[in-house]
Amino acid sequence: MKFFYIFMCLVCAGQSRTGISSSKLSGYPRTACPPSESTPQPPLRVDASDLLARFRQEMARNTARAEKFDAYLLPGSDAHQSPTLAERDKRIKFLTGFSGSKAMAIVTQDKAAIWVDPYDAMQADEEISCVWTIYTDSKNDISIPQWVQMNLRARSRIGVDATLISQSQWEILSRRMTLVPVRNNLVDLVWAGRPQYPDYDIAISPYERRGDTWTSKIARVRETLRNESCDMIIVTALDEISWVLNIRGRESEYFPVVRAYLVITDKVIYLYTNASRFSYNVNGTLKIDSCYNANCVRLVPYENVWGDLRTMSAQIWKKVWFPGEAPFIPGGSRAIHDVIQSDKIIKVSPIAMMKAAKSVNERQGMDEAHLKDAVAFCDFMAYFENKMKAGDEWDEFTVAATLDEFRRQQASSEGISFKTIVAFGAHSASPHHDTNNITSIKINSSSILLIDSGGQYLDGTTDLTRTFHLGKPTDEQINVYTRVLMGLIDLASASFPETMTLQEADVLARRPLWDAGLNYDHATGHGIGVHLSVEEGPLMISQEDHPKHRFKESYYVTDGPGYYEEGQYGIRIENVLEVISNYKNESGERMLQFRSATLVPFEPKLIDRKLLSPKQITWLNDYNTRIREEVGAELKRQTKMKGFHWMMEKAQVIPDARCSASYAHSHILTLVSTIAIYFILSSEN
Ligand SMILES: *[C@@H]1O[C@H](CO)[C@@H](O)[C@H](O)[C@H]1NC(C)=O
Ligand SMILES: *[C@@H]1O[C@H](CO)[C@@H](O)[C@H](O)[C@H]1NC(C)=O
Ligand SMILES: *[C@@H]1O[C@H](CO)[C@@H](O)[C@H](O)[C@H]1NC(C)=O
Ligand SMILES: *[C@@H]1O[C@H](CO)[C@@H](O)[C@H](O)[C@H]1NC(C)=O
Ligand SMILES: *[C@@H]1O[C@H](CO)[C@@H](O)[C@H](O)[C@H]1NC(C)=O
Ligand SMILES: *[C@@H]1O[C@H](CO)[C@@H](O)[C@H](O)[C@H]1NC(C)=O
Repeated sequence: MKFFYIFMCLVCAGQSRTGISSSKLSGYPRTACPPSESTPQPPLRVDASDLLARFRQEMARNTARAEKFDAYLLPGSDAHQSPTLAERDKRIKFLTGFSGSKAMAIVTQDKAAIWVDPYDAMQADEEISCVWTIYTDSKNDISIPQWVQMNLRARSRIGVDATLISQSQWEILSRRMTLVPVRNNLVDLVWAGRPQYPDYDIAISPYERRGDTWTSKIARVRETLRNESCDMIIVTALDEISWVLNIRGRESEYFPVVRAYLVITDKVIYLYTNASRFSYNVNGTLKIDSCYNANCVRLVPYENVWGDLRTMSAQIWKKVWFPGEAPFIPGGSRAIHDVIQSDKIIKVSPIAMMKAAKSVNERQGMDEAHLKDAVAFCDFMAYFENKMKAGDEWDEFTVAATLDEFRRQQASSEGISFKTIVAFGAHSASPHHDTNNITSIKINSSSILLIDSGGQYLDGTTDLTRTFHLGKPTDEQINVYTRVLMGLIDLASASFPETMTLQEADVLARRPLWDAGLNYDHATGHGIGVHLSVEEGPLMISQEDHPKHRFKESYYVTDGPGYYEEGQYGIRIENVLEVISNYKNESGERMLQFRSATLVPFEPKLIDRKLLSPKQITWLNDYNTRIREEVGAELKRQTKMKGFHWMMEKAQVIPDARCSASYAHSHILTLVSTIAIYFILSSEN
């Protein structure tokens, strides 16, 4: 998946050294604003003026009766700073109409402004009515503190629901403006018919049975607490709670977690959540029903977390571990931070670090998940290409919906891991393209088709991007695709010491593009969960300046370089890589390398093999051999012969074109070995 940084980068916005021009103040240029009789409003835009008027009444009422403030800040997250939101928590969407990934809004009695990711600006313009000014969260645009400075009197107070803002964001903003916690959420007050949280039964993850027991994980957390001389840790991130207790839920479509807070001390475990979802089996595994010692879970109603934290931190705990932030990990909320009375250490949760290093069982599960995912994808592509050849008309939305269905048919499928991106032609030039049934366009053989998608399985999570062309690609497209592939290979085939940081690895994937004066404007990779979040912190491979993390054996990261030609086409390919141990060099230093978990072929017609080095060709041939053997066997086992043929066609051995003397020879060898493998696999039962 293309890197959606969870956080609005509040401090980097507005850092350009050029002054603030009036065009910047007026925000992103809007279409059909102000509304007029002659030009119709875009179809997705809802008139939000009435709603905003009622919201402003609540602001005035609150200011008169409770906390006083001059503007209300609305962060686009939930109380757990989750990567995707339940419908009940989509407050920005309710108030503004904007359905994109991340945003933050601010409202005064006469102004309303919203900040969105630069890639989402077009979508925001489509969806948000003219009463809002849109700004992008980039260095070149004005930031929230700058906007406050320019639009409000000095020392104005900005109200915010402190449960919805992380402690680190609060701190960053507070350096430049005065934030005031507001107890009532004002959006909720005007939200008639606000949806409930989804209903689901909590399940025990198969990893409990496979040997990664929740009690062993809790024991490791407790050891870390003792090492840091902490009495308690409050866990607020939902994927961390689900991982450590081996439970899974369905808080949103792609996020299989349970809404809860978790308190772990040496003597007790309190789980603050909704008890109605606990089955007999879950109660048994977590030993909920008769909990009198340290190794069982005490269920407490979700709302009680506030009172309990306040009293126990005042009376019992001397030092509390409060979860700090890291890439993809926003950390605990300001409200949780404030309710804890005792000393706090603020540091990335130890559970996040434990979860990043996958267990032997999890590594096996990730292999199983990726194998099934490869089968689903190859089988889908065979089906889709055949239909297109037969003259069927498919649009982006149909491709996404059908591919999702192929994934769901695999064993232990739990659906998809994020909203499938299918982008044709100019749409592929936007790394964030939102595939929906309104903007969906027909696919034909005249341009690039980019598919970025992933699956959730009980055994693991996948994230895969492939780029195709159903007709004849241009030389430029071939050149660019090949360079993107070279970047993917250069990272995937690297051997490196344990001292290399993730940030240093980023350049490996970019260099072949840099050689041609090209680049891409997003991170190269991110961590990935095991039947959890598709973008899992704290691992991030990017140029950005962020806390240094080093690679460790058993980490999983994505490798996804790309290139985007605005208005024309975009190319991205992405594999999930497992970090494995290589060898110790002569002085005894351990080296690491990667092994690809993703096993889906690349598009041969977009590869200019003359550009590839012998090392890159060797990697690609070894990769294709693994695909033919491993995915081939599984496609056959599932009797998906159309998918099998598609895969064999795309995963052929590439001869090294530059060794012209041996070219014919190697070509014949390739042919012979391809036919041989084909027959071996076809004749197996
Ligand atoms: C706790 O500290 C000990 C001694 O420094 C160390 O060996 C152990 O790995 C630490 N445990 C954890 C979970 O960090
Ligand atoms: C608790 O579960 C009930 C029944 O499923 C549901 O109606 C309610 O909204 C849930 N509450 C929370 C806070 O999740
Ligand atoms: C599981 O335990 C909780 C808390 O004791 C209880 O409310 C719930 O009814 C139990 N579930 C079952 C199926 O026994
Ligand atoms: C478009 O998609 C949305 C959500 O996926 C769905 O609710 C709606 O019914 C669809 N509309 C059409 C015309 O298919
Ligand atoms: C292919 O699709 C593009 C984008 O929708 C369109 O501009 C172009 O005319 C189509 N070409 C053919 C041959 O249909
Ligand atoms: C082994 O690796 C370390 C770390 O990269 C390096 O400093 C050292 O020179 C290497 N030793 C040999 C013999 O290559």
